[in-house]
Amino acid sequence: MCENLKNAIIAAGQEHLLRFIDELSPVEKAAYIEQLTAVDWQQIPSLAAEYVLKRPEVSIPDDLTPAQFFPLLAKDEAMSELYAKADAKGVELLRAGKVCCLTVAGGQGTRLGFDGPKGTYPIGPVSGRTLFEYFAGSISRASEKYGKTINWYIMTSPINREATEKYFETANFFGLPRESVFFFTQGTMPAFGLDGKLLMSGKGSLALSPDGHGGTLLALRKSGALDKMIADGNEYISYFQVDNPLVPVVDPRFIGLHALENSLMSAIMLSKTNPKEKLGNFCVSQGRTMIIEYSDLPDELAEKRNADGSLSFVAGSPAIHVISRSFVESLTSGGTLRLPWHRADKKIPYLDAAGELQQPSEPNGVKLESFIFDALPLAEKVMILEGDRAEVFAPTKNATGVDSAESCREMITARNARRLALGGVEIPRKADGTVDAVIEISPFMVLDDADAVALVAENGLKKLFAGEKVAL
Ligand code: UTP
Repeated sequence: MCENLKNAIIAAGQEHLLRFIDELSPVEKAAYIEQLTAVDWQQIPSLAAEYVLKRPEVSIPDDLTPAQFFPLLAKDEAMSELYAKADAKGVELLRAGKVCCLTVAGGQGTRLGFDGPKGTYPIGPVSGRTLFEYFAGSISRASEKYGKTINWYIMTSPINREATEKYFETANFFGLPRESVFFFTQGTMPAFGLDGKLLMSGKGSLALSPDGHGGTLLALRKSGALDKMIADGNEYISYFQVDNPLVPVVDPRFIGLHALENSLMSAIMLSKTNPKEKLGNFCVSQGRTMIIEYSDLPDELAEKRNADGSLSFVAGSPAIHVISRSFVESLTSGGTLRLPWHRADKKIPYLDAAGELQQPSEPNGVKLESFIFDALPLAEKVMILEGDRAEVFAPTKNATGVDSAESCREMITARNARRLALGGVEIPRKADGTVDAVIEISPFMVLDDADAVALVAENGLKKLFAGEKVAL
């Protein structure tokens, strides 16, 4: 090991990381040195001091106001015209191949408790179709609809990259052109113990974790994804998370408004159902749009109401964005990007001083992550559009309960029921109004309401029966 590296580690107060180095085989040692070399040792002491040894204070600006947004339904004639223009613009951009999709799938999905990349979770309520297959189907149908192959960028972490790629290979890329799917890997951050010392996961390895979805931006540059976008003429990135199978993978109105408004980073907002709903809040300070996490928004602001009784800070974030490629290029032009770090206390398996691997039952360490929405204040222009919650947002965070696989499947059925009803199908309902059936429709065939109505007409479907399980 070179003296410089050793000295940097010691100067950062992390000498314990070298404890077992002489026990490693030459191959293990080389791999460990490679890991250690990738760490920015100069910043470790300040990260420990700022984020680990004390709880970082969230400073809420004094001048915080609610962010403006375009409502779901146009309020007047001029807005109707703008929306019609945006719809046409979005379609034009899709037809011209200017739009690509980006799924962030590097998270560890600990709350879901599923063994494997979260995208391979079987969410389909009848078929068991996976999250990735939902997106693949929607992208395939959108490509067909707009007459242009839509490139799909999938961000993984070093931990789930191989399993994710293997899954796609086995599934034969769900029929998508192989060259239209581009995997890239996000960066990692070393995890800290609560005493500010970095944790080890083995005698020759640091406990590393993905650096948050904010890592997407730099990873796009470092991986060559940006270069591919440039080569393929993709100018707009339709960004969504791996846990939301309802997401419109490309939404012409959203994309069109982004372009017409000259926005650099746009966002879908959902009207919050209560002041403290667990969604980030779109706010403005000093003319810049930002998201304040639900846990950080002061009660008096969260509870504040307009004259008509509606919440003032009503705009919650489902993490659906359109991002201009040029914005990512300019943010990462120097090969670096410093977004703020967010602390998460976690149970992190670690090697103790005796070289034994410990599985803590309580949070014993800190992971630092950056968030994509911290790029919003860096954008000169931001556009926010209201989305229809029941249509676009069914996050699969937990196994049961709120925001779970269970609730997501119910929402899939509910949306499908609504779409089939549009085509004239009679839907059985329980006394409380919920659908008394389980309904799945292939995303390879149906992207939107119009597709669903056409499907009903083709199938001659008239009625579903109570308790029926239907897969179309
Ligand atoms: P979450 O905040 O839900 O985190 O990620 P998670 O890691 O998937 O799940 P938990 O908290 O461990 O239960 C939101 C989205 O951001 C992606 C996830 O894959 C998901 O699509 N993400 C998160 C990344 O791509 N990289 C990360 O480092 C973190």
